[in-house]
Amino acid sequence: MDKIVIKGGQALHGEVQVSGAKNAALPILASALLADGTSTYRNVPDLADVATMLKVLRTMGCDTERDGDTTDVCRIGVNGHITPEAPYDLVKTMRASVVVLGPLVARFGRARVSMPGGCAIGARPIDQHLKGLKALGAEIHLTEGYVEATAKQLKGGTVNFDVITVTGTENVMMAAVLAKGRTVMENCAREPEVEELAKVLNKMGARIEGAGTSIITIEGVDGLKPVEHAILPDRIEAGTLLVAAAISGGNVLVKRVVPEHLDAVVEKLRETGCTITAEAGGLRCQAPQRLEAVNITTTEYPGFPTDMQAQLMALMSVSQGTSVISENIFENRFMHVPELDRLGADISIQGHTAVVKGVKGLSGAPVMATDLRASASLILAGLRAEGRTDVSRVYHLDRGYERLESKLRGLGADIRREKA
Ligand code: EPZ
Repeated sequence: MDKIVIKGGQALHGEVQVSGAKNAALPILASALLADGTSTYRNVPDLADVATMLKVLRTMGCDTERDGDTTDVCRIGVNGHITPEAPYDLVKTMRASVVVLGPLVARFGRARVSMPGGCAIGARPIDQHLKGLKALGAEIHLTEGYVEATAKQLKGGTVNFDVITVTGTENVMMAAVLAKGRTVMENCAREPEVEELAKVLNKMGARIEGAGTSIITIEGVDGLKPVEHAILPDRIEAGTLLVAAAISGGNVLVKRVVPEHLDAVVEKLRETGCTITAEAGGLRCQAPQRLEAVNITTTEYPGFPTDMQAQLMALMSVSQGTSVISENIFENRFMHVPELDRLGADISIQGHTAVVKGVKGLSGAPVMATDLRASASLILAGLRAEGRTDVSRVYHLDRGYERLESKLRGLGADIRREKA
């Protein structure tokens, strides 16, 4: 297991480019199952989670190919016999594999996908995914930890989600595109990654309207064709890099960003005193002399994203004042708190709320990553902490950030990866 070693105190300067969005790439790669032939995707980030999704697709019989492991081009061929199954040993390592369910049922009439089980940040049930597929006529059985879904022919229907779910919306949308007739989905997730998936499906011949709003209407079609598509930039990586500039007292241009996808994050960073300006297809963050404490409440898009909560908490740990952070999406997404406290932060948890009392400075220490965004939060804190911080279990980081330590080193951070 690797660890990341940081010597804090360097203000970051320069410019850095954002990679393709993990949470767009995963459902989009799964959508290749909906068409016969080979689809080509560019700007596919080189991440552990993407590698897992490609493995899931290969296990089913797809051909997957990356142009060498440095370029961002990925091809998926769905040509031969497909076994519509996703095994437990893969799904348990990456729960988003569950998004193969919709395409498999729609295209092959059946799917056997392991229940993803919970993860560090919460129980993360998939009841809404299954509710949606049932509304389209799929028969669902849960046996031996697997979801078995069958449908001779899915039929359009009305799906009203009880809970706003990103991958639930994506799963049902991918099932509905080949259903007979019209589907209306209500209370949908509005994330840019949902909109991006709909864009790809429409390029394949689907007829989807309303993606990015809470009501999505889909006219089923008989078949889809393969696609060529470049994945949009990762708004959470972009937000993480903006916070790196802010927490280190630096001035960084984060390139290849869709600014409107970061409105809630940029608004909060401006409230802390950062100067954020649009420049050359990106966003520049100039850290303030004095970081003001701000309150954060995570909500579904376009509200403040839960995937940026841990990163803002690291920033607030060295702000002037007290910040109240409420996590409303996941029930256990504060595992970075005790690790930040090891670095000298003063954070207390009260249920779904963390109270962050800003401290003058942090001091380096060995800390342990517990989940993807927690690992980013600890690295950000290490950039600020006096002395050396060792972040262990960085396999969590590698799930969702492409070479983050080399990007930060390119901005002047004293950071390296070591064998733990
Ligand atoms: C997606 O997860 C993202 N992952 C997550 O990013 C992100 O944190 C999350 O959306 C929220 O924005 C991908 O897109 C691959 P949800 P997802 O279904 O779809 C409850 C990261 O760090 N729920 O929107 O799994 C659920 O328990 C990852 O990149 C049900 O109750 O999240 C949670 O409380 C972490 N029943 C809430 O809804 C369901 O059937 C939101 O979950 C589905 C969800």
